[in-house]
Amino acid sequence: MADVKISPSILSADFARLGDEVAAICAAGCDYVHVDVMDGHFVPNLTIGPDVVKAIKPHATKPLDVHLMIAPVDPYISAFAEAGAEIITFHPEAGPHPHRTAQAIRAAGCRVGVSLNPATPVSVLDSLIDEIDLILVMSVNPGFGGQSFIESQLDKIRILRAMIDASGRDIELEVDGGVNRENAAQVIEAGASMLVAGTASFAGGAEKYADNITALRNAARA
Ligand code: DX5
Ligand code: ZN
Repeated sequence: MADVKISPSILSADFARLGDEVAAICAAGCDYVHVDVMDGHFVPNLTIGPDVVKAIKPHATKPLDVHLMIAPVDPYISAFAEAGAEIITFHPEAGPHPHRTAQAIRAAGCRVGVSLNPATPVSVLDSLIDEIDLILVMSVNPGFGGQSFIESQLDKIRILRAMIDASGRDIELEVDGGVNRENAAQVIEAGASMLVAGTASFAGGAEKYADNITALRNAARA
């Protein structure tokens, strides 16, 4: 299996120094930069919008993995694509036409991700799997960094790994929420190919970022 990809969530970065933080985490060896967009409506928190994504883009030497926790999604796709998103991930509950949303993200030139909340059944993907490049399993309820990993999501990751392999398509399986060096091996063993880590990536300040990412990678390999 290919090496695990690490996508640090900038939700745990110092927002007053966001450009420097993005540059530092990229220099520390991550594979993507995970950008959590929250609207205070789909999830109970507010974060950033396309102008901030556009502002950090020149500081990122790795692709931007944009996780939209907003409803509706469709009116904002072109703004995030133009801001420099490489991957745009949405939640199917965010609107009545998730298939159309997937097509719109593709048409905007981005890779398409679909995210499943802890209580979202995998069957939501039955008619979407041919349209997507990435599945994002939420291992916490979305809205905040620093929460504890929900163990029941390991079974869901296993089911999704089987579903992806059966599809024969090249779909990334990303896991988001409470991932750290203690549980990374379990998450990868269950079938994940990409780990989001906010708290675990940004702990200890910039001089620790390379160690944090290396520790996650080594733990995932174990
Ligand atoms: C939660 C976000 C996550 C979160 C991850 O709604 O989607 O990306 O910030 O942070 P940690 O790794 O601290 O759980
Ligand atoms: Zn996220």
